[in-house]
Amino acid sequence: MAETGIGKRTIRDVGVRDKTVLVRADLNVPLEDGRIADDARIRASLPTIQYLRERNARVVLCSHLGRPKGKPHPDMSLRVVGERLAQLLGEPVAFAEDCVGSLARTAIDDSANGVVLLENLRFHAGEEANDPAFAEQLAALAQLYVNDAFGAAHRAHASTSAIARFLPAVAGLLLESEVKYLGALVADPPRPFAAIIGGAKVSSKIDAVRHLLPKVDLMLIGGGMANTFLVAQGFPVGKSLLEPDLVETAKQVNAEAARTGKRLLLPVDAVVAPAPAEDAVPAVVAIDSIPDDQLILDIGPRTVSSFVEALRDMKGVVWNGPMGVFEMPAFAKGSYALAHAVADLDATTVVGGGETAQLVAEAGVSQRITHVSTGGGASLEMLEGKPLPGVEALEDMPK
Ligand code: 3PG
Repeated sequence: MAETGIGKRTIRDVGVRDKTVLVRADLNVPLEDGRIADDARIRASLPTIQYLRERNARVVLCSHLGRPKGKPHPDMSLRVVGERLAQLLGEPVAFAEDCVGSLARTAIDDSANGVVLLENLRFHAGEEANDPAFAEQLAALAQLYVNDAFGAAHRAHASTSAIARFLPAVAGLLLESEVKYLGALVADPPRPFAAIIGGAKVSSKIDAVRHLLPKVDLMLIGGGMANTFLVAQGFPVGKSLLEPDLVETAKQVNAEAARTGKRLLLPVDAVVAPAPAEDAVPAVVAIDSIPDDQLILDIGPRTVSSFVEALRDMKGVVWNGPMGVFEMPAFAKGSYALAHAVADLDATTVVGGGETAQLVAEAGVSQRITHVSTGGGASLEMLEGKPLPGVEALEDMPK
């Protein structure tokens, strides 16, 4: 049996020929006006599907999309994802209006080529509740379970966790490669090792910041979350997004960085505007001069220079979260400049998070990043050293 490197059996370690295989993918793609804004997660799921198709397996795909909270929601149907998947695969993908029960069964039985996408798992409350009864209903559709949903592997849900009680459970090729890349970076990072943490809210990243700080040599903090750190250092941030409850925590992180000799860099200037609007007139100001009536919406040029200079000698870099509102050209320069700088490094570079993956794609540098993860929360949790329930549930490789 081949050694997987992640300690778990994969589809290469079990017989799949002619089997009906339930593949949990993460097809949670961004939608804009009902259209797929970025199909990277669908593309990333192709190798496993193709591996199974080449062995004449029937492929029953399941995924969540958005957060419909246990009820059907027309804006969160996976139908549009099935259409895109069919284009990319070059063969029909049948769509089942429900992910369990007779609608799912009939779609599988009626499908000519055996490729079926089931409707959004989260239309059932049992999915997020990790309900064994719901998992058993899913399991009844197939003979083998494959988890390829790295992006959802940090969720202990019925389709990522409880399901493994009812079917032989192995990893897909995407899940395997993600865990390999991120695991290696956490276990034995090339040094010096830097983390770049951005994004809007410090509350969603503070645990990662705390866990990563002891592992890194350098930490760069940008994006909306930097504001709370700036206030902790005594800089007013005008009308910018701020999480006052976390100012004390940010102070502790600053102190911990100082105590342990870690470089923690914050923005020294910012691009500000009265509102995050396309037609806003941006201005660059020093970080100690943010006007009361303005918001910080990007890092400024002096910050870019300081971050790029600090990164220059790094041999390992992990990046999660953009530096500003990069969806709007007026506030995208800082994130784009950093994307190019990271891509230019002679280092192992790993980018995680849907927004950051979109950013490096739009900047045209994805190919020059060592690994662009399809997981946001999942990649952060790995970088924190937390076990992922979706990986834990899979069959161990025999020692
Ligand atoms: C993601 O987009 O990070 C994953 O698909 C998980 O989605 P969730 O945060 O809604 O569980």
